[in-house]
Amino acid sequence: MILIFLGPPGAGKGTQARHISEAKNIVQLSTGDMLRGAVSKETKAGKEVKTAMDKGALVADAIVVGVIAERIADPDCANGFILDGFPRTLAQAEALDHMLEARGRSLDAVIEIRVEEKELVKRIAGRFSCGTCQANYHDIFNKPQKEGICDKCGGHTFIRRQDDKMETVKARFEAYRLQTAPLLPYYEKRGVLRTVDGMQSVEEVAGAIAEALKTI
Ligand code: AP5
Repeated sequence: MILIFLGPPGAGKGTQARHISEAKNIVQLSTGDMLRGAVSKETKAGKEVKTAMDKGALVADAIVVGVIAERIADPDCANGFILDGFPRTLAQAEALDHMLEARGRSLDAVIEIRVEEKELVKRIAGRFSCGTCQANYHDIFNKPQKEGICDKCGGHTFIRRQDDKMETVKARFEAYRLQTAPLLPYYEKRGVLRTVDGMQSVEEVAGAIAEALKTI
């Protein structure tokens, strides 16, 4: 199965992609995580990526397309994969079409998670993760059971994303509106778009996605 998760920053793409990845045993490919990995290695390309991410702008298509093209050739993607945060521009969507065609594969569904902007701000402002195992938490919606201790690995260090500062988040919303939202009609025309109401609890959104996947 090949799925795309589309939605604005904070909509829950990563949360839901992780859930389906575990339930269906298919790989989750998050371009955000891959790019943050490149930044942490402090390579020349990583520095270019960091400049864009720190501003809340999209990273150049050529870089992101290259990263995905290389990754989907790995053996663990043979069974299918979930694209979380890719494509984000029409050029990336067209590049993905070519990559899949060249491999004789096709897209099964594009899941749009729709959430109002006020709610997105709340979700992003409270988000943090374990510095050791990357488990995700939220100040209000998903706190560790014991304050200051990671439920999963017992770690004591937590981190907040650099690009979750409100001025950067506004730029990320703008990038979504201008560059990514045009992908919705692109996929709707092909009959692969499924939109779910992301204003519900994590479990309810997961249920809505499971229902949507029954229609493909
Ligand atoms: P990326 O890392 O992809 O960030 P994003 O798209 O802005 O999305 P987020 O990770 O912020 O949110 P999400 O939708 O995954 O929500 P989450 O599940 O975490 O990209 C970062 C940057 O990398 C971009 O700005 C760009 O610079 C670059 N980049 C990445 N891909 C690129 C590409 N293809 N091309 C060019 N540049 C690219 O949930 C958010 C919070 O809400 C969490 O705390 C979660 O616990 C909570 N939550 C989730 N669902 C619910 C719910 N239903 N109810 C209550 N809380 C919830």
